[in-house]
Amino acid sequence: MIDASDRFYFRQLLSGRDFAQTDPMAQQMVNFVYAIGDRQTGEAVLVDPAYDVNALIDVLEADGMTCTGVLATHYHPDHVGGSMMGFELEGVATLLERIDVPIHVQAQEAEYVRKVTGITDGSLVKHASGDIVRVGDVEIELIHTPGHTPGSQCFLVDGRLVAGDTLFLDGCGRTDLPGSDPEQMYESLTTRLGRVSDDTILCPGHQYSAEPTATMGQTRERNIVFRPSTKEQWMMLFAN
Ligand SMILES: [Fe+2]
Repeated sequence: MIDASDRFYFRQLLSGRDFAQTDPMAQQMVNFVYAIGDRQTGEAVLVDPAYDVNALIDVLEADGMTCTGVLATHYHPDHVGGSMMGFELEGVATLLERIDVPIHVQAQEAEYVRKVTGITDGSLVKHASGDIVRVGDVEIELIHTPGHTPGSQCFLVDGRLVAGDTLFLDGCGRTDLPGSDPEQMYESLTTRLGRVSDDTILCPGHQYSAEPTATMGQTRERNIVFRPSTKEQWMMLFAN
């Protein structure tokens, strides 16, 4: 039941389980989509809508919320739609056919998002690190975390870090793909995310661990990507 006194709206939705239940790609890829909003104003944004975007908008509407925008962590088709491994995945292009809302990306990711989804420049809002996206009274801070892709970004909101493919509970996003950069990934994990407090809840882009979330403190303790104490060690272990 929704507690009306709690304005902050936050949902974590697993592909293949909470939506797109019959889609084999959605089941296999185990992506998390997030809905973040303000219950009082009824506005919400979707983070990385893919596979069955109409179902995701329906989830919001069933909660009495209206989708007023999309935040994209990065351009990979399992996060924004497009062609992947011979499959055509639904994403922001399908969403824009139903509702006209801004798609928020890091400036460095804009070109890739356009190419992979086919949406036009006019649909994109290009951000710099530190920008705030307001959803009703809720403020979401965008943190540029390159490494997995040049314009990957994480979202800091109400004690949660929505991390896309930058950081999982175990491991981090691949750094051997086109546009990846292991050195930048090290800087993102240790410096750019270094100020994110230990009690912040890490909300990853995929369910790659038994638990869906963990605190940053737990993650810094148990995740092998935080084991090396220097960049040189990190590069030896994780740069391919
Ligand atoms: Fe990715």
